[in-house]
Amino acid sequence: MSYNLLKGKRGIIFGALDNKSIAWKVAEKAFEEGASITLSNTATAIRFGQIDELAENCNAEIIIADATKTEDLSHVFERSMEVLGGKIDFVLHSIGMSLNVRKKRVYSDLDYNFLNKTLDISAVSFHKMLQVAYKMDAINEWGSVVALSYIAAQRALYGYNDMADAKALLESIARSFGYIYGRERKIRINTISQSPTLTTAGSGVKGVGSLLDFTERMSPLGNADAQECANYCVTLFSDLTRKVTMQNLYHDGGFSNMGMSLRAMHVYDKNLENIIDDEKKD
Ligand SMILES: NC(=O)c1ccc[n+]([C@@H]2O[C@H](COP(=O)([O-])OP(=O)(O)OC[C@H]3O[C@@H](n4cnc5c(N)ncnc54)[C@H](O)[C@@H]3O)[C@@H](O)[C@H]2O)c1
Repeated sequence: MSYNLLKGKRGIIFGALDNKSIAWKVAEKAFEEGASITLSNTATAIRFGQIDELAENCNAEIIIADATKTEDLSHVFERSMEVLGGKIDFVLHSIGMSLNVRKKRVYSDLDYNFLNKTLDISAVSFHKMLQVAYKMDAINEWGSVVALSYIAAQRALYGYNDMADAKALLESIARSFGYIYGRERKIRINTISQSPTLTTAGSGVKGVGSLLDFTERMSPLGNADAQECANYCVTLFSDLTRKVTMQNLYHDGGFSNMGMSLRAMHVYDKNLENIIDDEKKD
């Protein structure tokens, strides 16, 4: 069901790879809500992903860019303004990658070249995007920029590795640039801290199956899925949230404010019985 929340708005969606990607769902939802959009991703992602299908469904042009390269980002904003017919109203940064995670380097044995890449791709690219757009004056007054984060920015979570540091930096950039954009351009910058979600990036996290079960049990409303995240993004792009800025907004079914839940306690009790039983056997 469409509420026409983004009618007449122009947006850029970075990071749709395949139909599991959060950015994919955001693109579809933004289009459904009346926006015209462009899509951007790396050449490799475009070659190996399914973004052509999304572009066709959303009547969107695909613009190749490595988000760590400012010249590529300038081109995305320039070309988007050209094809969409004016300045941009909303931007989604849905980009993350860690070579340390991919190559199974643990946090106490990081490869620092990989770490630099993690930070550049997953966090500094957000600053680059904002700075490029700022210098070009590419975003309309009351525009909205959202990047996707994760609670490992605040809490230690097993297996999230150097992506936790990247998310902490990402959220800090949203605050620091949010102040400048708000003060000078009336543009809002926020991060959404999303539940674990089964996407290509999400599947790379160590023990993701157990993590999903744990957060599902701990969250009174259950895990938020990619479609629900898209719905939330659209509200932040809309005119209904004009005074929300510099925030890290949890979209996690309540997980971030829980300590222990009955459903998690049940599993813990069960395992404890097994442990005690095992001990008795010894
Ligand atoms: N899946 C989860 O559990 C989860 C939870 C919280 C936050 N997030 C965040 O959501 C965002 C989207 O991830 P997703 O889960 O949809 O996975 P995804 O794998 O579908 O998306 C990640 C995207 O990043 C793109 N990317 C990587 N390097 C890039 C570069 N140099 N330039 C431009 N794009 C590049 C990839 O091509 C891909 O499209 C990420 O920031 C991720 O950390 C994911």
